[in-house]
Amino acid sequence: MLLPIITAPDRRLKVKSQPVAVVDYEVRRLLDDMVETMRAAPGIGLSAIQVGVAKRIVVVEVDENEPLASEEAAAQEKREPVRTTRYLVNPEITWTSDKVVFCEEGCLSLPDQYADIERPADVVVKFLDRDGKPQEMKATGMLSRCIQHELDHLDGVLLVDRLSAVRRHMILRKLAKARKQEQEPAVTA
Ligand code: NI
Repeated sequence: MLLPIITAPDRRLKVKSQPVAVVDYEVRRLLDDMVETMRAAPGIGLSAIQVGVAKRIVVVEVDENEPLASEEAAAQEKREPVRTTRYLVNPEITWTSDKVVFCEEGCLSLPDQYADIERPADVVVKFLDRDGKPQEMKATGMLSRCIQHELDHLDGVLLVDRLSAVRRHMILRKLAKARKQEQEPAVTA
């Protein structure tokens, strides 16, 4: 089932999401709906709070062989795309690399807005999978980037919160204005 995606500015996107007690049928159904919603958007990651559920749940689907643009030069050989759907319940980053990288990010809750964000290059994340089984994995490249972006959502942090106050307000004002114009019926003389 497609779920409506909340766009900024919206109070709900500032909420700190709560841990999931047990990965049951309801959680799995939400995970599946989130994947469907993410693909339709289309996007490469989605957190539950973006569809109005304040639970620590994330889905990610990126080409896991894709290096970040900044790493492109290092990646000489041609790689086959590997697209794996990742279901992360109660995800927690347990390690981050000292190396940091800049990468342009977008967000389904900030339509048409992009910004260069600096983050650790690699992370280790532990989480419960779709079956509720504890997992731990090291993520690099686009996967690492996407996981860090989605985990921010669980703590009420948007990518604009990582920008200067001036740029943040500029972007949020633009989005509020665009939404207002969308809602107002066109006036014809
Ligand atoms: Ni986002």
